[in-house]
Amino acid sequence: MKGIVLAGGRATRLGPASRATSKQLMHVYDKPLVYYPLSTLIHARINEILIISTPGQLPLYEALLGDGSQWGCAFSFAVQAEPRGLADAFVVGAEFIGDDTVALILGDNIFYGWGLGEQLQRFTDPDGAVVFGLWAHDPQRYGVLELDEGGRVVGIHEKPEVPPSNLMVPGLYFYDNSVVDIARSLPPSARGEIEITDVNACYLTEGRLEVCRLPFSTDWFDVGTFDAMLDAQTWVAGQQRRKGVLIGSPEAAAHREGFIDTAQLRHLAAAVDHDGDLDKSGYGERLLRILELEDGLG
Ligand code: TTP
Repeated sequence: MKGIVLAGGRATRLGPASRATSKQLMHVYDKPLVYYPLSTLIHARINEILIISTPGQLPLYEALLGDGSQWGCAFSFAVQAEPRGLADAFVVGAEFIGDDTVALILGDNIFYGWGLGEQLQRFTDPDGAVVFGLWAHDPQRYGVLELDEGGRVVGIHEKPEVPPSNLMVPGLYFYDNSVVDIARSLPPSARGEIEITDVNACYLTEGRLEVCRLPFSTDWFDVGTFDAMLDAQTWVAGQQRRKGVLIGSPEAAAHREGFIDTAQLRHLAAAVDHDGDLDKSGYGERLLRILELEDGLG
């Protein structure tokens, strides 16, 4: 399975901070926001990843992430000239996807939970589409799943006044290869975007949409507003301090999933590259601590 991180958009809700900076390059505590969705894909053992952003901002992602080989990955980059919608990722990324299945993750979504990687890995060869269901006490702010008695999806309702369940759909989707043709065939919606909801509706009509319920304990943030960003920052800082782990670290994820070995992780932790010394920020030190933790936690 290949992966796409969608990191364009307008970020109007973060103005004026987003006027000259990409939202997904802003930091959430000690790392750029885009590290979090990248590490989620890596935990799903996906290492061929396309990063999509705006013409002005894409070079910054290339400078930050390089070709991915440092993390045992292969990164590609593509421009989305206009924010034409989430499903446009499959049109922009058609060549990259080729004949493979593909995961799409939104560049401003943070997922965290013990065992999340294993959970995701079970769905990386989908025959159809897989959306994820997350418990929310206020699901009406999101896309909400309607399930039948057998737990199968019968509908996804966008911001319903009366939610049919407490399960909302976060910004991570797995698809078989037909998603490219589906996205290409979709007309733009009233707001002028190619909607991911319409992609999912196609699969649902064909009876090929599956749901994976994520554990209740899964943490998720959609970092689209200043308050959401502050919440995420505080949460990451607190978790890292209390548990001594690094949340949303591509290096740690790549090591855990076997994309890089311990020597490479040590090298990254100590690395002095053109961006400077990781150790000065404490990031390198925290990376090394992961080795001790992995010994302890398995
Ligand atoms: P949104 O948060 O819906 O949009 P936005 O980031 O432009 O923010 P705002 O609503 O404040 O203007 O987008 C979700 C994610 O998808 C985010 O990472 C940006 C990305 N995105 C694209 O890359 N291209 C697009 O065409 C759209 C609609 C979103």
